[in-house]
Amino acid sequence: MEKDNVNRMQLAYERRGKGTPLVLLHGFPLDHHLWDEIVPLLEDTFDVILPDLRGFGASTAIDSPSGMDDYASDIARLLDNLNIQKAAIVGHSMGGYVALAFARRYPERVRGLGLVSSQVLADAPERKEGRYKSAADVGANGIGSVVESMAPKFTNDEKLQSYARTSMERQPPAAYISALKAMAERADSTSLLSSFQFPVVVIHGDADSLIPIDRAREVKAALSEAHLVEISGAGHIPMMEAKEKTAEALKHLA
Ligand code: MLT
Repeated sequence: MEKDNVNRMQLAYERRGKGTPLVLLHGFPLDHHLWDEIVPLLEDTFDVILPDLRGFGASTAIDSPSGMDDYASDIARLLDNLNIQKAAIVGHSMGGYVALAFARRYPERVRGLGLVSSQVLADAPERKEGRYKSAADVGANGIGSVVESMAPKFTNDEKLQSYARTSMERQPPAAYISALKAMAERADSTSLLSSFQFPVVVIHGDADSLIPIDRAREVKAALSEAHLVEISGAGHIPMMEAKEKTAEALKHLA
């Protein structure tokens, strides 16, 4: 695992393989290990860069509020440090929100965009309120209740569920709080879609109980050129539940 100075923090990342630069962004509340199983299927095609978003994994803890643009700016600075001008940017769930913020701020640096189990909509008011309540609860009582409510919704596969739970449990409360607030405040990206000048891949499990597959179908409806891959039987983590199909879909960004 490498660490690079970006935006006055240490951003941790792994880099594997050779080919088209591909950044894989993990979702909430996880770290880059989410992608461990799928990387061997991608490293012959891509130069795979796997950051831990600020506050998560081995990246520096955060002590100030961060928005989606801050998470995106960290990725831009990391690519600067690696001398990579343009990369395919793929995000899982919250990582997809970061990928969209990246595409909004640095469109010239995107050679393709991938949304895995994600969406382009902003939070509805009640969802936003729920995020702030969760953030307050994490501040007062720790991460337990968020983990308890989220882990069972990730997948029906018990082994993978326990893997996801372990990963959630090792993330610090401050990372949860910052990410919950950033998700609550994220912009709606629907109108951004029509400005995209690069390939877009949308991957979604039809059994995702955290973000329903309709969100992926809406992206396809708004952007007919998008390559939508629906994965039958997969929940919220298709890169683990159906890694071959997910890898094959991501290769459209090579
Ligand atoms: C995630 O998996 O990153 C989150 O469930 C996304 C969200 O809550 O909107």
